[in-house]
Amino acid sequence: MEELISKIEKYKTEIAGSEASDAKGVEEFRIKWLGTKGIIKEVMGEMKNVPADKKKEFGQVLNEFKLFTESKYESLKEATGNGQLSSASAIDLSLPGDPMPLGSRHPITLMRNRIVSIFQRLGFAVAEGPEIEDDWHNFGALNLPPHHPARDMQDTFYIQQNPDWVLRTHTSSVQIREMDKGKLPIRMLMPGRVYRNETVSARSHCFFHQVEGLYIDENVSFADLKQTLYFFVKEMYGKDVKVRFRPSYFPFTEPSAEMDVTCFICGGTGCNICKKTGWVEILGCGMVHPNVLSNCNIDPNKYTGFAFGMGIERPAMLKYGVNDLRLFSENDVRFLRQFTSAI
Ligand code: DAH
Repeated sequence: MEELISKIEKYKTEIAGSEASDAKGVEEFRIKWLGTKGIIKEVMGEMKNVPADKKKEFGQVLNEFKLFTESKYESLKEATGNGQLSSASAIDLSLPGDPMPLGSRHPITLMRNRIVSIFQRLGFAVAEGPEIEDDWHNFGALNLPPHHPARDMQDTFYIQQNPDWVLRTHTSSVQIREMDKGKLPIRMLMPGRVYRNETVSARSHCFFHQVEGLYIDENVSFADLKQTLYFFVKEMYGKDVKVRFRPSYFPFTEPSAEMDVTCFICGGTGCNICKKTGWVEILGCGMVHPNVLSNCNIDPNKYTGFAFGMGIERPAMLKYGVNDLRLFSENDVRFLRQFTSAI
């Protein structure tokens, strides 16, 4: 009996170490151990020689041995595939996986990030403000009192329930919010969406995006404004691009200017984008009007500053070759998908 049990232990060690690389190997295992003339049958045949009082104990050992062998047989079958993939060990790790489609940033976001990152290198921080504004922040504090004719420069959406509220027509309103905080100096960039009551077409829309810039400190001059914007243009459009300032009018700056760059499509020789002039207007700017500083409790005799504002859609259209403004807000994945690898 003792001898038999140690024999079974040896068989079990052999079984545990058994391997099969294919169905043929598995079948050989079955025939050797579980077949009608196999070892299990043979060991069972020993039962008749076991003394009656040990039969029960031996029966259990035999039974356990048989289950052990059968379970090894099952796992060999699974490991070799058994004609189908049925366990973790049978998975083919060399098969290609299911690719996760990559999302993409919106082209307006891409252009906004480009603009912001250039000014961030000059120490400008980013701030945002609300899209629904009160009259004071959008107009009044910016030196545009009620009935000022310059209000007509921007066709405004008023909120019906409260005509003191508007959808902001420009990001200049965020200048006021930053100055109101009372912390100087200010060197801020303020990107955001703005609204104007304009007919929607390929070239104009009732909402679009701007980036506003504001720098306020002691002794800030127009030379600082020009130098800052030169740096921006070189980084954005390249070293060969030329810049010109044209005198202009904005109620919140004095003096005011508009800045043009040589057309980066035709290089200045004249094309449809620059309407054959060789120049493209990219922003409005100027020295912050003393009235605006006073409206925000900043002493205009001590502090000066410059401001500028530019649209995001136009440079994005030119950079990414988009010819219809409406594409930006239609959320058509066939359009958006094209920017997966754009920067
Ligand atoms: N707010 C002006 C617009 O929407 C753009 C602008 C012009 C902003 C001059 C400025 C500025 O800060 O100084 O047309």
